[in-house]
Amino acid sequence: MNGDDRFVSALPKAELHLHIEGSLEPEMMFALAQRNRVSIPFASVDDVRAAYRFSRLQDFLDIYYAGADVLRTEQDFHDLALAYFDRAAADAVVHAEIFFDPQTHTDRGIPFQVVADGLLSGMAEAKRKHGLSSGLILCFLRHLDEEAALRTLDQAEPWLDRLLGVGLDSSEVGHPPSKFARAFERAGAMGLKRVAHAGEEGPPAYVHEALDILRVDRLDHGNRSLEDAALTARLAREGMTLTVCPLSNLKLCVVDSMTAHPMADMLRLGLRATVNSDDPAYFGGYVNDNYRALAATEKLSREDFVTLARNSFTGSFLDEATIAGHLAAVDRYVAGFDAD
Ligand code: ADE
Ligand code: ZN
Repeated sequence: MNGDDRFVSALPKAELHLHIEGSLEPEMMFALAQRNRVSIPFASVDDVRAAYRFSRLQDFLDIYYAGADVLRTEQDFHDLALAYFDRAAADAVVHAEIFFDPQTHTDRGIPFQVVADGLLSGMAEAKRKHGLSSGLILCFLRHLDEEAALRTLDQAEPWLDRLLGVGLDSSEVGHPPSKFARAFERAGAMGLKRVAHAGEEGPPAYVHEALDILRVDRLDHGNRSLEDAALTARLAREGMTLTVCPLSNLKLCVVDSMTAHPMADMLRLGLRATVNSDDPAYFGGYVNDNYRALAATEKLSREDFVTLARNSFTGSFLDEATIAGHLAAVDRYVAGFDAD
């Protein structure tokens, strides 16, 4: 490992854009298929990995939803979450705000309770085992209608005190944020934070809608905001956090190469960008693989990586005092690394 790789690998960080269903590794997919006697359309783990070639978001989503079918019991969701947290802890992640897609499961007859309680028990175990804190963000599937999102919010009511917020994911183009105006309004009134995927494949107009209609507290991806200078300036001025996912962007052809990734430009433009893994089992790596992929482009300095790690905490939904504690740990890490 070179100096920058070593530096970013142990740098304390938070992860703010992670779909727990996207952390389902092929090995676990096979193990759960066996445990639950579910058939999957793959002969081997290698066969699964060979299928992970995507030219756009929808190619990935089709496989991702099919893979999630092996998740059936509370134990499955617990195991899935804990496997992610074990990987995250090894990447010096000390806090994670994770997405889950309840409709992917309730629509195939798995009760909301099974999903939520399984994930929450995995989160509690991660706190005990690694000291890793976490929060849960319920994502609405935007290819479904708003009535279905509102019903999901009703189902979530008993878990309200254990949810951090709501998000919006799945097929972006043709499903603008404005489609979910009422669901987000209600979620806000229920005291939940609001985030949304926008500007991954969709145009800058979708980012405007996420800000003005959904009134998001954080923006997921946001890459295409850069096509609109006034929007970029607004995001910078308002200190909006962008949860950027470099390896995902590469695998889903949002960028042509890692060298062409706009992360360095985002930082120069004053955007509060962060580094995240999105769906690490499908996109070739966990959060540190994303940091190292950026380091390999040699377009970011060590100070930039410190900024990215700091942004991951300032962009989190933790309270001010806890954020300050994490920022102090980043400072200590940098001072200790320099002294070595
Ligand atoms: N669901 C899981 N990963 C996603 C992504 N990158 N974009 C939209 N929906 C998703
Ligand atoms: Zn995502």
